[in-house]
Amino acid sequence: MMKFDGISKQYSLGQNQISALDGVTGQIAQGELVALCGPSGSGKSTLLNILGMLDTHYDGEIMFGSQLLSKNPKSLIQFRRQNLGFIFQRFNLIPVMSALENVSYPLMLNGLSTQEQQEQSLAMLDKVGLADWAHHRPDALSGGQQQRVAIARALVHKPSLVIADEPTASLDSASASQVIELMKTLGHELKTTFIVATHDSRMATRCDRTIELIDGKISHSAYQWAS
Ligand SMILES: Nc1ncnc2c1ncn2[C@@H]1O[C@H](COP(=O)(O)OP(=O)(O)O)[C@@H](O)[C@H]1O
Ligand SMILES: [Mg+2]
Repeated sequence: MMKFDGISKQYSLGQNQISALDGVTGQIAQGELVALCGPSGSGKSTLLNILGMLDTHYDGEIMFGSQLLSKNPKSLIQFRRQNLGFIFQRFNLIPVMSALENVSYPLMLNGLSTQEQQEQSLAMLDKVGLADWAHHRPDALSGGQQQRVAIARALVHKPSLVIADEPTASLDSASASQVIELMKTLGHELKTTFIVATHDSRMATRCDRTIELIDGKISHSAYQWAS
């Protein structure tokens, strides 16, 4: 579903170049829940931003299906809206919008009618167990509930890939468990690939596969993709 080859990334900090990723290569199958593990500073967020097409300043190549990804940010906007979903550590819901409106947002960007937006968003809220909370704003919801709204928002437009950066790091362990299980069941049901950065070992052990980064390189050969 996705192949990435020789991904390297350097940040400039004053006069210094920081190597955040150094020749990262791998592939991910459709519908897999992949944990991207590694200590803080190992390059997880950097790699997610690149695979999520938010950062196009990198060396190397990414194939998305049979398509070589462009490095022109403008040409990626529409592609990203249709094919990708995002989940963040701090939920990133829009505070003045209801759960339903938050979930509808990607459908609005993709030009669906108001009625289609409503129907599909309610159906997705139902899948994450929050149909009864559709008209509540995020501040009326617990952290775990907010993250479930964020999962619904990430999936509502049926993307083929969801990128999640530390999605359980702000949650207590019961809510974290629910969030992991939801990503896994919905990912398998909808055949959506999830790439989830985490340094939470509870999370990692429950994913289908693990990629471990250390100092910007894939470390453990046992975890690498067989190509
Ligand atoms: N915007 C940035 N400018 C400079 N250095 C950065 C920037 N973002 C990340 N880095 C550096 O790149 C390396 C990888 O960071 P990051 O991808 O955030 O790791 P992780 O998500 O695994 O904690 C770290 O050394 C970090 O300090
Ligand atoms: Mg990070």
